Amino acid sequence: MARRSVLFSPGDDGKKLRKAAAIKADVIVYDLEDAVVPDAKPAARETVREALVDVMPAAPEVCVRVNPVGSGAEDDLAVVLDGPAPDSVMLPKARDASDVRKLASLLETHGVDCPVLALVESAAGVLHAEAIAAAAPTDALVFGAEDLAGDIGATRTASGREVSHARQHVVLAARAAGVSPIDTHYPDFNDLDGLRTDAQAAIELGYDGKLAIHPAQVPVINETFSPDEDRIEWAEQILDARDAADGGVFVVDGEMIDAPQVNQARRVLERAGIDRD
Ligand code: COA
Ligand code: MG
Repeated sequence: MARRSVLFSPGDDGKKLRKAAAIKADVIVYDLEDAVVPDAKPAARETVREALVDVMPAAPEVCVRVNPVGSGAEDDLAVVLDGPAPDSVMLPKARDASDVRKLASLLETHGVDCPVLALVESAAGVLHAEAIAAAAPTDALVFGAEDLAGDIGATRTASGREVSHARQHVVLAARAAGVSPIDTHYPDFNDLDGLRTDAQAAIELGYDGKLAIHPAQVPVINETFSPDEDRIEWAEQILDARDAADGGVFVVDGEMIDAPQVNQARRVLERAGIDRD
């Protein structure tokens, strides 16, 4: 299942955790990290564990964002995994592959083997993104622009040029390891036009999906990351022509087509949820 929209809900707000399940996000993330102040974390762990019991059967993919390894992940998992395990776990502030491996071994001590969504949101994380993506449990590489800007001393601008190198690097690292790249969230949840433009830019860079922080962002992200009919038709046409050709180079609508376009066409159909080799 494609992860187009990945919606955060604060782990200390049981009402939002339950509400999130009714929103058509591909992934809902119960957050125990930045959305929860330190004093509220012990209660939030219980709230998340209880919400998992209620929500797991009805929701799509349910993920829990733990605190960084060595700074709370241990306590988070001890409480949360006392109930049903989430479908996946998000690791914030992944600095290198050893952070992912430490999380995997913590999960193993609880008898849980689930995919890890690793957040790359620091200078070290970006520089080690390839190894983080290649670590065994990593299933998606998530780009976090806000924390990264803080870490490198950058000023956030409307154009986003201060994080553009990192944003592109995360796609390269994810694709090199065969995992999915997911883009940073768009902070102004009232500006849906701005979100649409930002999501379109993410698609052009190669991202498969985008983080969301508010329910209103989810339909915009789902729609933008779903290929439109013209694009699906184009992809079907390319693959039909490929099947009809003897292999190698062929022509569609006067345009030379070879392996790169075939790969693009495959990805479009994958994104549309259409199964085809
Ligand atoms: N998940 C589930 N439900 C949410 C939600 C979320 N992330 N954000 C808002 N809602 C719900 C609200 O509870 C409200 O429900 P109601 O109509 O039944 O009362 C409805 O959607 C409308 O919300 P709204 O009033 O517009 O926003 P808010 O002021 O309640 O919340 C935020 C604004 C930013 C605090 C909230 O969207 C939020 O908590 N976002 C996630 C923050 C987070 O997890 N950050 C960490 C990752 S960066
Ligand atoms: Mg953060």
